[in-house]
Amino acid sequence: MQLSDNTMLITGGASGIGRALAEAFHMRGNTVIVIGRRAEALEELRTRAPGIHTRVLDITDRQAVEGGVERVLHEFPSLNVLVNNAGIMQAEDLLAPRIDLSVQEATIATNLLAPMRLTALLLAHLRRQQRAAIVNVSSGLAFVPRADTPSYSASKAALHSYSESLRFQLRGTSVQVHELVPPYVQTALMGERQAADPTAMPLQAFIYETLLLLESDPDIEEVCVKRVLPLRNAAGSSDYRGFFRDFNERLQAARVTN
Ligand SMILES: NC(=O)c1ccc[n+]([C@@H]2O[C@H](COP(=O)([O-])OP(=O)(O)OC[C@H]3O[C@@H](n4cnc5c(N)ncnc54)[C@H](OP(=O)(O)O)[C@@H]3O)[C@@H](O)[C@H]2O)c1
Repeated sequence: MQLSDNTMLITGGASGIGRALAEAFHMRGNTVIVIGRRAEALEELRTRAPGIHTRVLDITDRQAVEGGVERVLHEFPSLNVLVNNAGIMQAEDLLAPRIDLSVQEATIATNLLAPMRLTALLLAHLRRQQRAAIVNVSSGLAFVPRADTPSYSASKAALHSYSESLRFQLRGTSVQVHELVPPYVQTALMGERQAADPTAMPLQAFIYETLLLLESDPDIEEVCVKRVLPLRNAAGSSDYRGFFRDFNERLQAARVTN
């Protein structure tokens, strides 16, 4: 995708990676419309970056999304980029006496069904644009699951798989499909502690490297900053099982000592 002269819809752009992307793209002269559930967070974004448009919308609410997309297209007929960034991540104990299915359902609804629905609603419009893109934000955990967040990891693996099929079906059209594969980044995805965790990649460094990769190769399929490569490449390595075990045992040991 090109990095300027777009009209972009970014889900979950009121905080973290989505907000940093929204601000960076806005600064590069793109028209940016941000979706989120929290009106106050969206208002704060508008104060930080006047000119960014915001809409309160829960992307898991099917009816609201259908109406919301229609209104956005009416107001921004030049919309040519969809960034499926919104996501939730919660730990799940599968050994608990009663497994809380609400976490699993919300995770799949937010991280997988919502991007698929938004894609379905916008695809015909995007295909009519001279150049267009769908950017799906997956995760390094799509390639090596984190065992304490099973539904999250599964949702991201599925989003990766969906992005591959989508890209294949859209080959030869004006719509490009990019997958952003973040490593562990300093945001509040799993709480404020993550935002300050020195072992996580600083948010601005992640955005800088991501934009550099997109800029240097506008046709790039997977945007993988250096930090995520061990996870991304483990999937194809002969010692995948060992990598998976060590990765999860290290995480478990870190949780026990914390
Ligand atoms: N940070 C990391 O380490 C990391 C690593 C790999 C992948 N990722 C992915 O990066 C993306 C952004 O996450 P982040 O790290 O920036 O965390 P974040 O700051 O918590 O951002 C997630 C955003 O999604 C929005 N959201 C959640 N549910 C929504 C819903 N139903 N409808 C509309 N908006 C919704 C949230 O806003 P509201 O609460 O206002 O709705 C929030 O702004 C996610 O897809 C995440 O899985 C992050």
